[in-house]
Amino acid sequence: MKSDNKPSVCVVGLGYIGLPTAAVIARAGCKVLGLDVSQKVVDTINRGEIHIEEVDLDGLVQGVVSRGLLSASIEVAPADVFVIAVPTPFDKDHAPDISYVLAAGRTIAPVLKAGDVVILESTSPVGTTEKMRDMIAEMRPDLKIPGLTRETPDISIAYCPERVLPGRILEELTNNDRSIGGITPRCARKALAFYKRFVRGECVTTDARAAEMTKLVENAYRDVNIAFANELSIVADRMGLDVWEVIRLANRHPRVNILSPGPGVGGHCIAVDPWFIVHSAPEETPLIRTARGVNDGKMHHVIAKAEALVEAHPNARVACLGLAFKANIDDFRESPARFVASRLARKFGSRMSVVEPYADELPLEFTDSGVTHIDVDEALETCDILIVLVDHDVFRVVPLAERADKLVYDTRGIWPDQPRVVREEAAKLALAAG
Ligand SMILES: NC(=O)c1ccc[n+]([C@@H]2O[C@H](COP(=O)([O-])OP(=O)(O)OC[C@H]3O[C@@H](n4cnc5c(N)ncnc54)[C@H](O)[C@@H]3O)[C@@H](O)[C@H]2O)c1
Repeated sequence: MKSDNKPSVCVVGLGYIGLPTAAVIARAGCKVLGLDVSQKVVDTINRGEIHIEEVDLDGLVQGVVSRGLLSASIEVAPADVFVIAVPTPFDKDHAPDISYVLAAGRTIAPVLKAGDVVILESTSPVGTTEKMRDMIAEMRPDLKIPGLTRETPDISIAYCPERVLPGRILEELTNNDRSIGGITPRCARKALAFYKRFVRGECVTTDARAAEMTKLVENAYRDVNIAFANELSIVADRMGLDVWEVIRLANRHPRVNILSPGPGVGGHCIAVDPWFIVHSAPEETPLIRTARGVNDGKMHHVIAKAEALVEAHPNARVACLGLAFKANIDDFRESPARFVASRLARKFGSRMSVVEPYADELPLEFTDSGVTHIDVDEALETCDILIVLVDHDVFRVVPLAERADKLVYDTRGIWPDQPRVVREEAAKLALAAG
């Protein structure tokens, strides 16, 4: 460690989590090397620019790069602390793929030295940190490795998951509480000392396996509760009830807090992480597995209902509002809105437009579909049916006067004042469609 007592840091993986993390650590005065396998990402960051959209990230990265605190490379270099934030996707059978984590471990192992701290931040199935530890032990038999030696280990290894919300990442990176799981209590203390440099939220130490499970549990909790809301929305359609009204009323109970239904659950966290638990304990997870099925099934319900509405109005022009997986962001990965809109595009082609203010152009699957990319004003002027798929603020603020005469299918409940008859018509049509 350098004499000014600030550790040098290497952040492995410079995506939605790694780049903001690297920038925030650099802002705290640590010299940070960002490591990525993409030369394009590295070049962009070294120019002081960013390759992802995140509130205030551009200014922060530009500042820390120009002050020489953050640089990027595809070549690893020695550091005092390594933070790994590479992807952890699942395969077609929903089995977690930790190959990126192990690849990152393989990359850093040769440059590790006594005193270093290695922290895994990628969302990971329980036991991944130990697997990475075992791999480092194999590659570096010269180092005393925590959990595998009776003596004081040379390095520390910990797991510390990220729980930030896209769109608020910089704020939440510093203000959220963190769970810090060490392979040993000593490892947890070393990692804690590092996070204290830039985290204002409370940092709670535990062991690596508990911290891994905590992250998965948080997202499974969200998924199960959203599934309850989504199931209610389908039941309400069948019964001709307004689900939003029912939820609003039920939430007046002091101990009830039903979440909001939507067109499904997307993104790369809530729709993915519950599978890591199911994969580890398939027999013991009927609820978590069912919730995944309910949330995926909601997309098909929305498609059927939207199709019935559009088919009942053969001369109407249709606009799908939003493609992102949640409000006010430019992330379209695993987005139910995008899935629904692309299915409708196949069927209705040039009768349909998409409004997505966070996209410069429509994703590839819309190519040759005849669907046009328009803004919200044009949709209000030219379209008769509006299908709300994302609760972007720019949609939420459209006044009733500009949409009162539209047929609206509002999957996000952003327009509670929309004339009810239109919503009921859509529900009736969906029922008729079976
Ligand atoms: N994005 C979120 O909101 C969020 C929130 C909480 C947790 N997470 C978790 O954080 C982890 C990272 O997610 P993300 O959204 O930042 O992913 P991302 O895809 O945006 O970024 C990952 C980056 O890692 C790089 N990379 C891949 N393999 C590498 C390797 N071997 N060495 C160096 N770089 C490598 C990729 O090129 C990419 O730039 C995942 O486990 C994810 O589940 C994400």
